[in-house]
Amino acid sequence: MIRLRDVGFRYDAAGASGASAPVALRQISFEVPQGGFRWLLGPSGAGKSSLLRLLALTARPTSGTLEILGSSVAQARRAALARLRRRIGVVHQDFRLLPDLPVFDNIALPLRLQHRPEDEVRDEVHSILDWVGLASRATARPPQLSGGEQQRVAIARAVIHRPALLLADEPTNALDEYQANRLMELFRDLSGLGTTILVATHNDALIRRYPAHELELAQGRLLRDG
Ligand SMILES: Nc1ncnc2c1ncn2[C@@H]1O[C@H](COP(=O)(O)OP(=O)(O)OP(=O)(O)O)[C@@H](O)[C@H]1O
Ligand SMILES: [Mg+2]
Repeated sequence: MIRLRDVGFRYDAAGASGASAPVALRQISFEVPQGGFRWLLGPSGAGKSSLLRLLALTARPTSGTLEILGSSVAQARRAALARLRRRIGVVHQDFRLLPDLPVFDNIALPLRLQHRPEDEVRDEVHSILDWVGLASRATARPPQLSGGEQQRVAIARAVIHRPALLLADEPTNALDEYQANRLMELFRDLSGLGTTILVATHNDALIRRYPAHELELAQGRLLRDG
């Protein structure tokens, strides 16, 4: 489960000359039960990616309290945060694949961080490569792939270790309708198995096709939770 209480976040005004740091999130409070699914909506610049960054533990709230998978983030030590991070899967808006590593190794990364035996890694990666339709591209490097293919690699990497929390930032923006629908079926299955899922999107057709609880942001504030 995740729980936010009055969470505020501002980016450090690195190098800014006297200008105050931009406030990305203000007084955000909501909860998501384990296995819950949330659409994260709002116009460009509303704070969706910033919120996902806090939930992914790659940034810390400037104010308020954040609890992820039962741990209070402010009090957690570095090692505990690292362990927590390994239970989170993230599909970044810009994919963030490692360009010099083959597709196979990009996807295998979360399993190798868990020190899983290599034969297990091979089986898991091949089966998810089949699922995302990229079995023939296992040895390709990400820059050799189309945008949609890269996005499917990013999705495979985010779910391969069956994370307890899955954060997906515009995960369908490079996918066709068929692939987007399959991804939604995957999310539905994972949520049924107890994975908490937040998906930021501008894909109105997809939201209409898969109605679910919505968190709507505007100018860093939570406008709607329902
Ligand atoms: N690295 C950064 N440094 C400083 N400000 C940032 C940074 N990233 C985002 N911001 C600012 O924080 C605010 C929220 O941005 P964010 O990326 O969270 O929006 P978003 O809802 O994800 O938008 P989009 O739909 O375009 O992806 C914006 O005003 C943005 O300019
Ligand atoms: Mg964004």
